[in-house]
Amino acid sequence: MSESRMSQWSSRFYGHFTETIRRPSTPLLFIFFAFLVGLFLFTRLLDSTQIILTTTTTITVTNHIPGLNCTTLNTTITCPTNNYPNSKREDLYRPTPAACPEYFRWIHEDLRPWAHTGITREMVDGGRATAFFRLVIVDGKAYVETYRNAFQSTVAITHWGILQLLRKYPGQVPDLDLMFECNDRPANPSNYYNGPHAPAPLPIFRFCSVDGLAYIVFPDWSFWGWPGINIKPWNTLLEDLKEGNKKIGWMEREPHAYWKGNPNAKPKEDIMKCNVTEHQDWNVRVYALDWHKETQEGYKNSDLASQCRHRFKIYVEGIGWSVSEKYILACDSLTLLVKPRYHDFFSRGLVPMHHYWPIKEDDKCKSLKFAVDWGNRNKQKAQAMGKAGSEFIQRDLKMDYVYDYMLHLLTEYAKLLTFKPTIPENATAICLEKMGCPADGLVKKFMMESMVKGPADTGPCTIPPPFAASSLNDILSRKENSTKEVELWEKKYWDSQNL
Ligand SMILES: *[C@@H]1O[C@H](CO)[C@@H](O)[C@H](O)[C@H]1NC(C)=O
Ligand SMILES: *[C@@H]1O[C@H](CO)[C@@H](O)[C@H](O)[C@H]1NC(C)=O
Ligand SMILES: *[C@@H]1O[C@H](CO)[C@@H](O)[C@H](O)[C@H]1NC(C)=O
Ligand SMILES: *[C@@H]1O[C@H](CO)[C@@H](O)[C@H](O)[C@H]1NC(C)=O
Ligand SMILES: *[C@@H]1O[C@H](CO)[C@@H](O)[C@H](O)[C@H]1NC(C)=O
Repeated sequence: MSESRMSQWSSRFYGHFTETIRRPSTPLLFIFFAFLVGLFLFTRLLDSTQIILTTTTTITVTNHIPGLNCTTLNTTITCPTNNYPNSKREDLYRPTPAACPEYFRWIHEDLRPWAHTGITREMVDGGRATAFFRLVIVDGKAYVETYRNAFQSTVAITHWGILQLLRKYPGQVPDLDLMFECNDRPANPSNYYNGPHAPAPLPIFRFCSVDGLAYIVFPDWSFWGWPGINIKPWNTLLEDLKEGNKKIGWMEREPHAYWKGNPNAKPKEDIMKCNVTEHQDWNVRVYALDWHKETQEGYKNSDLASQCRHRFKIYVEGIGWSVSEKYILACDSLTLLVKPRYHDFFSRGLVPMHHYWPIKEDDKCKSLKFAVDWGNRNKQKAQAMGKAGSEFIQRDLKMDYVYDYMLHLLTEYAKLLTFKPTIPENATAICLEKMGCPADGLVKKFMMESMVKGPADTGPCTIPPPFAASSLNDILSRKENSTKEVELWEKKYWDSQNL
């Protein structure tokens, strides 16, 4: 991926994003020293990021992080050798292990292209051209080789998430070797799966994919918080959203469809055109997010939990996939979901007309107006659908399941490897101390909030078996069917209006 595309990509996402970490004033000399040390550490920690430090920034080296031994600065250079027990806990309390949510079945689908061939070292190496980093796990320790920069700290946060998985399930994450791409659009459009007789595609992990492309989807960084735009770690945010939902009941909410964001791509620009004017009311209220202003004000105005004030909320992709889907679905509002092109690891579990209302890609304004009119006429049904969407997020996408998904996916992937993973010559070890000890400000706050306290007391949920071919087709055609049905209602509605 070229540098220009990269910067285009990050700038369209965050406009003039800058990360500011403000601290109360401290003696000047100390600030300066701490700044230098901090900057050094920061660059090491986040060497694969594009964090831009603007206003007066102080990063102090703190030695007290509960659960981490940060007493030596050396942890920023070398990982402690003995801090990580890697034996499986045999004393786990195991009631009958609960079955994982249905969407875990997609793990088998994502790995199907290699079910017969297995995954060779050459196949993994083949992903090097587009990968952002390579992850190798040997004996419960993680090693990475970084190839390119990703915007903000997405690579570093992803590493942090992997370290939490190792902490939660010691001795259970198998040895493995994989390539990871961190951009929002699949970069290698030729990575199709053409059936069991065609050459196997490259096995590459990503945060999102497109139907038909052979990518392995993995939970995205935002589950561990996104300091760049002040999005809290998922475990904290989920609680906030639950509380936020209690503030205004569905019936008391504004009877319109709400969307707030950065109109930086065609589908989003289309939504902006549906905003209410003196002459036309499509039942839509949209607000442009001013990143520059938000940055200066610490993203107070984009507090997600306080955005659950409308009966309907719109989800629309930009140029690429967006992490916002889960935040929108978690609001108890009915999600009006503009037909997406991308999927992530959980979104394939969503069912139209059960968890959300499907919106057509073309003629979005008409489609939205119809949906809102329908919902305000069928309040009970609309409210129930909104609740079902929220419950899916609260229950099936809780943080424990995110880790279980990672564990099962990596376990199934590792089973396909035809070689024994070894530590690459140029890889560096990553560990909690190396990342956590030198961090400061919001980065550190979120790291501490999202840190797994210790090994899990219970085992992971049980992964469901693959879909039977017929049941998968059934699910897909039922989805398509209900979407078509809505389009039909919509057409009838508009035909009758035009009489
Ligand atoms: C932290 O690490 C240092 C250096 O390895 C060691 O001397 C010290 O005992 C450790 N402290 C704790 C609380 O484990
Ligand atoms: C790091 O550790 C080595 C030995 O383990 C020691 O010689 C060196 O002085 C330490 N460096 C710092 C900056 O603490
Ligand atoms: C949409 O309309 C509302 C109400 O008039 C207004 O407050 C808001 O700024 C408009 N949004 C945009 C992006 O123009
Ligand atoms: C490791 O890095 C060195 C120096 O950049 C390079 O010459 C060498 O080819 C690399 N090895 C591998 C296996 O990529
Ligand atoms: C699709 O919808 C039609 C009409 O509602 C129905 O007759 C048909 O059985 C549905 N097909 C599936 C696979 O659900």
